[in-house]
Amino acid sequence: LVPQISEFCYVIIIPRHYSTPLLHLVVRYYDNIPNICIKKDKTANFKKKSTNSKIFFIYMWIEMKQLKNLDCTNKKIIVRVDLNVPVFEDKITDYSRIHAILPTLEKLTKNKNKVFLIAHFGRPKGEVNKKYSIEFLCPELKKLSNLNKVHFLDSCDQKIIEKKISEMGFGEICLLENIRFNAEEEKNDLNFSKQLSSCFDIYINDAFSASHRNHASITGITKYLPSYAGLSFAKEIENLDKFLENSNKPNLAIIGGSKVSTKIKVLENLVEIFDSLVIGGAMANTFLLSNNYNVGSSLVENDFIELSKKIQKKAESKNCKILLPIDAVCSKKIEDT
Ligand code: 3PG
Repeated sequence: LVPQISEFCYVIIIPRHYSTPLLHLVVRYYDNIPNICIKKDKTANFKKKSTNSKIFFIYMWIEMKQLKNLDCTNKKIIVRVDLNVPVFEDKITDYSRIHAILPTLEKLTKNKNKVFLIAHFGRPKGEVNKKYSIEFLCPELKKLSNLNKVHFLDSCDQKIIEKKISEMGFGEICLLENIRFNAEEEKNDLNFSKQLSSCFDIYINDAFSASHRNHASITGITKYLPSYAGLSFAKEIENLDKFLENSNKPNLAIIGGSKVSTKIKVLENLVEIFDSLVIGGAMANTFLLSNNYNVGSSLVENDFIELSKKIQKKAESKNCKILLPIDAVCSKKIEDT
């Protein structure tokens, strides 16, 4: 696993942002080795492990590959973005996700690349459903990115993409129809990723908020193209790092979403780092129920009540105050709220 370069020397090369968990994993694997200490040092390129030990671990940080450091001109670039924007009565109610990708789009178009955007919208479950079409985003992107035109393509067919690329000018953008109209996307079908990638030179992920999904346009495609984090993705990591590496108390985290089950590890870590944790969204219902509040027929995860209690206990032992909603709007049906 870890390459041994001499009797007493191992080399570990790790992406910097995965440093701590990976080092722990390695050390657990080699736990017969005495006196291993884990010391975090973001600035050092090389570190000698444990001066008392006969065994040396040298580890080397490798930085995440980023668009910021990439020179790219006249290339065909596919960019995964998160344009899953909230819409009410046909109007976008929050533009944050569109604003977030503008710096990446600006850099790529200024450098005269041909840019294809892949995005999802809602959960059409692998079928074409006009209700989830993202064509309506073209005028919004055009306006906000100050471009004369944003192309649109409703097919992921290799030949059709190639034709579109040949028609596009350098410095232009094309938005692909909702990638989740293709069942292969959520199955992380590698043939699909390969076929998508074959028309492009570079892949950029600027969809931090969708990157927990093991989907063809997020993880699969990186197997076939040189891949980079977009400007917004890198900024998200930088901001997270500020808390994870150097958090100063007093501090407060806010977490929402519908499920406790998908955020167990995050919750367990947050109670260690923060001294207040505000829990909102439907996951708060599971916590409220675990404290014997009546939540009626609201969305809850009955199987995670015990775990919610455990997280609250851990929070207490770490002096982290969990703040749950104290007000609620009640109605017989969701439509009445
Ligand atoms: C989101 O809106 O949270 C992201 O776009 C991910 O969407 P998903 O939960 O449907 O994968």
